[in-house]
Amino acid sequence: MNYSRELKNQIFNIIQKESDKLKYPTYVVGGWVRDLLLKRENTVTDIDFVCVGSGIILAEKVALTMGKQARFKVFKKFGTALISYKGENYEFIGARKESYRSNSRKPIVENGTFEDDQIRRDFTINAISIQLNKDDFGELIDPFNGIEDLKNKIIKTPGNPNKTYSDDPLRMMRAVRFATQLHFEIEKESYEAILRNCERLSIISQERITEELNKIILSPKPSRGFKVLFETKLLHQFFPELVKLEGVERVGKHVHKDNFYHTIEVLDNISIHSKNLWLRWAALLHDIAKPQTKKYEKKQGWTFHAHEFIGGKMVPGIFRKLKLPLNEKMKYVQKLVALHLRPIVLAKDIVTDSAIRRLLFDAGNDIEDLMTLCDADITSKNINKVKKYLNNFQSVRKKLKIVEQKDQIRNFQPPINGIEIMQLFNIKAGKEIGILKKSIKDAILDGKIENNRDEALKFIYKKAKELNLNK
Ligand code: CTP
Repeated sequence: MNYSRELKNQIFNIIQKESDKLKYPTYVVGGWVRDLLLKRENTVTDIDFVCVGSGIILAEKVALTMGKQARFKVFKKFGTALISYKGENYEFIGARKESYRSNSRKPIVENGTFEDDQIRRDFTINAISIQLNKDDFGELIDPFNGIEDLKNKIIKTPGNPNKTYSDDPLRMMRAVRFATQLHFEIEKESYEAILRNCERLSIISQERITEELNKIILSPKPSRGFKVLFETKLLHQFFPELVKLEGVERVGKHVHKDNFYHTIEVLDNISIHSKNLWLRWAALLHDIAKPQTKKYEKKQGWTFHAHEFIGGKMVPGIFRKLKLPLNEKMKYVQKLVALHLRPIVLAKDIVTDSAIRRLLFDAGNDIEDLMTLCDADITSKNINKVKKYLNNFQSVRKKLKIVEQKDQIRNFQPPINGIEIMQLFNIKAGKEIGILKKSIKDAILDGKIENNRDEALKFIYKKAKELNLNK
């Protein structure tokens, strides 16, 4: 099959000319070819090239022809070179043979033939290439029937799966990631090899594992990936907190739901409505403290008191361990986990404006995301129940809207700040400032005064009198 018509990008022609001059057989390989055959939308902005020769020399020539806009970088340690050009990255590598030691995923690299290069690749669907030299421009090379596997939606290694995964254990995560992103199945032998080799994930850096995990989370139906991660025990290697959610317990007629399968269903539900990675993380972690808080009480059955609060507290530790960012993204996830039960209480018929204002204050601009999480958290199989709960949350949304329009609490800024308080009462920084500031905030949230400066001033004079602060 010839794909020269698909090679429109000028990079392919430049490479063809330069590799012909150097007499290097050269190929485009990997994800770009796979996605072209899958007719996947331009998800790959990185294109990988292999030549039988020096990838660095070829890249240098190509970069020169491309002119000033091409940025050229050599990675001597890896024997590769990278050209960045108008938001695309072109990676060049010489065909190689790799052998691995048992304690590292860093291979010993030797120059090899094109066939050596193909067999060292992770999956048959990633080992398809297209030749770029003039005489064979656009010719497809598919030594391991990758096209067949693309058609049948199968993830399979070109060589013995035991060796492929043991050589580079990151590939086990990649297998699950591709299966989830592309909605493919992992072939049985591969599956079993992953199960056998799962503990070898320990030689992979957490950053790389988490990079794959995030891609699984961002897939259309992430639960597929989590089920495989769980069954192959990959999840057990780096995320025991999530593993602990699995299982049900029964006392008499009381049985609680399986919180692992519930959690990944919530993750799927939220993924229908949002592509926000951090909202998806909040879904994944919303019940994370259920195992620690689980109790059987005679009257109520199974309870998980304060799991949202303890769950929120667990978020920084989990983020640190998984090498996720410890910045405002983490705080956002922590906030949503801690607040995820609050809207349920507001669904009751009689609810005070004060309770609504407090939720608006605590959630701030993330209130819509919190409500999306609450909707996603409904996983009952009973359609009538689902309808009822969704309706309840719609009525909470209405109440939130009415109170927000009236009181503008979401972006609450105290109408009087600490410095003003110090000037008003001629006092130095100290705990009184905090007490006064909090009393204004509480008075507004409880509806005792309106959210404006005049009312706050009147209130604070009264309060200061109680504290004997008046001059
Ligand atoms: N590869 C491999 N083993 C790995 C990583 C990569 O064999 N652990 C090979 C595969 O042939 C892969 C190619 O190197 O197709 C390029 O890798 P990479 O850019 O990481 O992945 P892509 O397959 O291009 O896909 P994506 O961009 O979705 O990660």
